[in-house]
Amino acid sequence: MGRDIWSEWLLHRRFGGDARRMQMVLDFLRPIRDKVLHNARLAEGETVLDVGCGDGMIGFGALEKIASGTVILSDISQDLLEYVQSLARDIGLLDRCQFVLAPAEDLSVLDAASVDVVALRSVLIYVSAKQQAFREFYRVLRPGGRLSLFEPINRFGIAASDQPHLFAGYDVTPVMDVAQKVKALYRRVQPIDSDPMLDFDERDLIAYAEEAGFREIHLELQVAIVPPEEDDWHAFIRTPGNPKIPTIEEAMRQVLTLDEMERFTACLRPLVEARQGIHRRAVAYLWAVK
Ligand SMILES: C[S@@+](CC[C@H](N)C(=O)[O-])C[C@H]1O[C@@H](n2cnc3c(N)ncnc32)[C@H](O)[C@@H]1O
Repeated sequence: MGRDIWSEWLLHRRFGGDARRMQMVLDFLRPIRDKVLHNARLAEGETVLDVGCGDGMIGFGALEKIASGTVILSDISQDLLEYVQSLARDIGLLDRCQFVLAPAEDLSVLDAASVDVVALRSVLIYVSAKQQAFREFYRVLRPGGRLSLFEPINRFGIAASDQPHLFAGYDVTPVMDVAQKVKALYRRVQPIDSDPMLDFDERDLIAYAEEAGFREIHLELQVAIVPPEEDDWHAFIRTPGNPKIPTIEEAMRQVLTLDEMERFTACLRPLVEARQGIHRRAVAYLWAVK
């Protein structure tokens, strides 16, 4: 039986079939989870709604921090909900968990003022109706309840990545024509102007929270312009940046001739292995009180 793109991504593709990469991803995510939960100011006995729970990193993390209290794990992926349910059973937390199939922008299965905390990581980037999602977070929170979230700001760096001589932050001037073909494929899959991963920045997040009615809002933006961490060519070409796009290897196979693939690889591979590129990243933590 096939799994949906979300469970394929979270449980497999984001690790690129590589145990070292998996460890890198999990090490990278742990402090993010801790900061989201810290900003949520969890207290004993509270109910936490983990929106777009994925493999349950935020929700199970919350249960570790409080000895009493419950978590509602919600997602649009039935496969992932089944996965977290069996995980909860295995780790003996089933009686403190509920599982809800619902999109962030329509939480109508939950009553108004029914949760103490709404927490999420990297979910709004997949939601087109972001303002509606914030209204739903506000509605399901009790007065005094807290929202805490983390989102990548992928719009940061778009202008740089659009320059024709750059590919994924590497200077590929000698094979610019070939790079353009691969980039055009990614642009077709995720148009810059309309894709939900690219159509917002940190100011929009603040505006959404304010419009929804939150009375106290904080946002922390973190920006890094740094050399790439990855120096393994195969991990680089086999790990897609997100669940909706092909890997670079898949993209090359789709749009390049064999000769073009060879030219592109001959230019790009040494740059990746020497970490001779620049990555531009921005992420935002937002936390707010109803
Ligand atoms: C990058 S994963 C993050 C998973 C988890 N929050 C974590 O911190 O690891 C994105 C999650 O959002 C879910 N998702 C995608 N679109 C959604 C939507 N409209 N509403 C709720 N969840 C959604 C996916 O199924 C996936 O589990």
